Amino acid sequence: MTEGLTKAAARNIFYGGSLFFFLLFAALTVHSHLYIVNVSTDREGFTDSVILGKQVWEQHNCINCHTILGEGAYFGPEIGNVWTRFGGRENPEGARAAIAAWMRAMPTGVPGRRQMPYFEINDEEMDALIDFLQWTDSIDTQGWPPHPSG
Ligand code: HEC
Repeated sequence: MTEGLTKAAARNIFYGGSLFFFLLFAALTVHSHLYIVNVSTDREGFTDSVILGKQVWEQHNCINCHTILGEGAYFGPEIGNVWTRFGGRENPEGARAAIAAWMRAMPTGVPGRRQMPYFEINDEEMDALIDFLQWTDSIDTQGWPPHPSG
């Protein structure tokens, strides 16, 4: 009997350990996938209008100036919770009208204020864009952002 670790034991620990952690990694990957698909994705909320609204958001590169759930640029305010900030939770019709009016009133031309350009967005696209913003606002962000305007 030799003292300490034999070569065979070291090899077994190496292979056994690798296998164990590989299986653990595979199990966690499956778990993450199932969690995303079954728990953290709001599939019913994905109406055609919300999907079109996301496309409008992407076509006009709103993210070049705004963050949405923290992702994007910091020139304009955070947009992920703009629905709440425009009072959509208490008065959905009012918020809808106010966001559309805001978009149509740009740029304000107020001196010293950052400007947002005017976008050619038709009524159907505007409705869809607002549906997308409302949907985004419904995501449970666990209290983020700490300050309402990001
Ligand atoms: C060139 C930069 C720029 C782009 C691109 C841009 N915005 Fe803005 N946006 C701004 C700025 C700056 C403000 C704040 C203006 C102010 O307060 O007077 C703003 C404000 C807003 C607000 C009001 C937010 C609030 O909290 O008051 C909404 C809604 C909004 N933008 C939506 C959009 C959407 C939707 C798009 C894409 C179609 C877009 N923006 C593209 C710069 C931009």
